[in-house]
Amino acid sequence: MEIDQVRRKFAGMYGPGEARAFIGPARINLIGEHTDHQGGYVFPCAIGLRSLCMVRPRTDGKIRLAATDLPGIVEADISDLSCYGRIPWGSYQLGVMHVMQKRGYTLSGMDLLYDETVPYGSGLSSSAAIEVATAFAVAALHNDRTGTPIDPVELALIAQTAENDYVGMNCGIMDQFASAMGKKDHAILLRCHDLKYEYVPVRLKENGYTLLICNTKKPRSLITSAYNQRRSECEEAFSCVKKAAGIRFLAEMTPDQFEEYKRLIIDPTARRRARHVIYENARTIEACEKLRRSDVQGFGELVTASHVSLRDLFEVTGPELDAMFEASIRQDGVIGTRMTGAGFGGCSIAIVKDANVPAFIENVGKEYSQKTGLHPGFYVAEIEDGAREIK
Ligand code: GLA
Repeated sequence: MEIDQVRRKFAGMYGPGEARAFIGPARINLIGEHTDHQGGYVFPCAIGLRSLCMVRPRTDGKIRLAATDLPGIVEADISDLSCYGRIPWGSYQLGVMHVMQKRGYTLSGMDLLYDETVPYGSGLSSSAAIEVATAFAVAALHNDRTGTPIDPVELALIAQTAENDYVGMNCGIMDQFASAMGKKDHAILLRCHDLKYEYVPVRLKENGYTLLICNTKKPRSLITSAYNQRRSECEEAFSCVKKAAGIRFLAEMTPDQFEEYKRLIIDPTARRRARHVIYENARTIEACEKLRRSDVQGFGELVTASHVSLRDLFEVTGPELDAMFEASIRQDGVIGTRMTGAGFGGCSIAIVKDANVPAFIENVGKEYSQKTGLHPGFYVAEIEDGAREIK
């Protein structure tokens, strides 16, 4: 929906008067997948798809949540926000508010209306977009009352804590950080161990390439349990090598160290997971260097290598993402393609020479549909600024 339309809907729902609007963008990750939970490097960017949160304070302690695409209103009470983790929808929002309250933010009652342009469950992090939009909205109201400055990195950490503790998805920091800290036409090289980051210009357009998002439309069922399982397999690998290699987190290990100590990881599954994390981390640093030097071809090759590793070693792709990959990689003008996000369905990205984009969409669409029976979606990724208020 357009923002003015959402404003009208808000007024129709909660009555006329001022309301503030905050955007939490979705993200794609260019490379560095399943490295964040092991302290490694990631290379995401915020995109134009977004969650919009419209908010107005209330004087009683009630929170009312509504969404433009869902029926009904969810009501909660600020005096007990601990008990809404299992409701059909609204747990991301209330989880963020609960964590903020515990960290000393004073909450008032609020009327809120959400509008999403991020397809749910598509691997573009609709959940982080909602969490970050909520955190910015609540922090802005808190700032009105107390003058406390808004710290986007802290808000990203709050959003991640809400997802870990309230919703039960043991995710890393990448999605919330990208949504809170994104910068137009830049990707963020983020070291997740200590949150050191730098912005790197994504010069694909200038070199005649389009960054496409390819949605498999495969809903990601059981994602939380599969994700949490991968994470604990990594932790097992880490516990086998940390002493001998003298590392503080798994991604701190270099590929050479891995080759030296890998025999200590007895379980073959844990060893495969570790191999992915360590080589993917090295690939991310190298890929970022290539992009800086405008070596888009070299960058694309590493992007593709990332998919292969996620398929064969980390095993998070599945038939739909692999069908999308197989169809994409064969097209003229494609220099790199890979799944993006947690995996198990959702989206991939493809870097395609501008002139080849229409044929790519037609051919990949056809081939993918024939193989899977699903109708994919294709969008051009616009890299945008991170979370912000819309005046
Ligand atoms: C999900 C998680 C992120 C990250 C990716 C995989 O999107 O939320 O923290 O682990 O998967 O890279």
